[in-house]
Amino acid sequence: MDRAFLSLDTVHTLLHRRFSAKKFDSKYHLPKELLETILEAGRLAPSSYNTQPWEFLVLRGARKNQLLPHVYYNDQMIHDASALVVVGYMHSSAINAGYLSGFCKPEYRDRVVNGVASLFKDRLQGDGVLIDAYLKEQCYIAVGQMCLSAALLGVDTCIIGGFDPVGVGKVLRAHCNPPKIACLIAMGKSAMQITRKARKSKESAIKWL
Ligand SMILES: Cc1cc2nc3c(=O)[nH]c(=O)nc-3n(C[C@H](O)[C@H](O)[C@H](O)COP(=O)(O)O)c2cc1C
Repeated sequence: MDRAFLSLDTVHTLLHRRFSAKKFDSKYHLPKELLETILEAGRLAPSSYNTQPWEFLVLRGARKNQLLPHVYYNDQMIHDASALVVVGYMHSSAINAGYLSGFCKPEYRDRVVNGVASLFKDRLQGDGVLIDAYLKEQCYIAVGQMCLSAALLGVDTCIIGGFDPVGVGKVLRAHCNPPKIACLIAMGKSAMQITRKARKSKESAIKWL
């Protein structure tokens, strides 16, 4: 316990403070430095082989509205949020030796480059669907870290999976290559109360062996 940064109570409060805001205050402007810190939480997230296959595209103001024809049920939320972070992921062919060498520690380089190549070719059998699922898994870890960091900063969020990735990809084609989209995150100030957590019981979620 003496190594803890926060008290148990504070951590529990934070976990309940992070909720999916379904309505945003359209008058609120999310300060850039808060947004930058939330994006930094995504950039610093862990990923398998440290592949970091994500790209975060930040849309503010009217730019967000370009995506409205391609979202299901979430249009008002996106319209009213102060910022929308589009979480894109790279094509597996771009996760190659050149890319990985850009940040990999030299002592791990060969292991990582060979490991990633073998993962795509052997374990995932070169299957585009399986590879995309693997890459999206990494992105969701960054998404979780961003949303929790946002809650710490008093910023409300809603993760959005209800959209057409092909349509959104087409709109953003010029900014991500290729335009593969994992999810969207609306950010700003909630215009509704924090919702109570509706969760299955501890007993059914957790087994102590
Ligand atoms: C991958 C993912 C996709 C989601 N997509 C949507 C969505 O399209 N629209 C929405 O209102 N909420 C969406 N949510 C929010 C969930 O509904 C919400 O996290 C869940 O009901 C638990 O509520 P809480 O986040 O307030 O604790 C999504 C959450 C995740 C993790």
